[in-house]
Amino acid sequence: MRKKLIAGNWKMNLTADEGRALALALRSQIEPDAPVLLRDREVMVAPPFVAIPAVAQALAGSPIALGAQNVHYEERGAFTGEVSAPMLLPFGVKFVILGHSERRHIFDEDDALIARKVGAALSHGLTPILCVGETAQEHDEGRALEVVLGQLDRGLEGTASAAALDGRMAIAYEPVWAIGTGRNASPEDAEAVHRAIRARLAERLGREAAAITRILYGGSVTPQNVDVLAGRPDIDGVLVGGASLKADSFARIIRARTG
Ligand code: PGA
Repeated sequence: MRKKLIAGNWKMNLTADEGRALALALRSQIEPDAPVLLRDREVMVAPPFVAIPAVAQALAGSPIALGAQNVHYEERGAFTGEVSAPMLLPFGVKFVILGHSERRHIFDEDDALIARKVGAALSHGLTPILCVGETAQEHDEGRALEVVLGQLDRGLEGTASAAALDGRMAIAYEPVWAIGTGRNASPEDAEAVHRAIRARLAERLGREAAAITRILYGGSVTPQNVDVLAGRPDIDGVLVGGASLKADSFARIIRARTG
């Protein structure tokens, strides 16, 4: 059975002090019933790079995992402003969000670059969360599946099934028109895209790898809509932006009804 993954993407929000406070507040909300609650789900938060040390300290000994919002494909060198996987590992970072639509659209990241980052993450033992999603225009033109599956194919270029077979691969379907807008895909539409993603994963990486790869939904996930989304069999969790910035709302999302 795939464990659901409830992931918080803090984006460029929260200083180290604010991140520490949020991590501690989340711990106190989740930990009393964590042994039961986390039997069928995992929780992750991805702070800005400079808050990672403080949040790592605040989460020490907790079941809440740590993620990063990006990583460079090289280990070191003349790449001003970048951060590499070996720099993240000492803080216990386990996940890295890659190919987020804000990276694609604001910072012009293309699929080839994203594929290199996916490869680097996997080779350093990080779990990439590869984000894919169509824009509003592509959606209105009926091209959602073509765009999503194209991003998936190119983003996984060079990824061997072995990496996915040990469960260290996740995909996030985030329709761009749903991110930060308060609009979301209907659970039926999201489920259909997730099913198509899993079918493509089966073709690329094999049925077994596809069956264990988690496919998250993201885009305006809130405490109000999480139950209907996370309750779908092919929606293996959620990637949450805005609603992950407050302990109360993220804790409620973590408690989503999934069955
Ligand atoms: P949102 O962001 O939940 O604020 O829409 C989701 C994301 O960008 O991962």
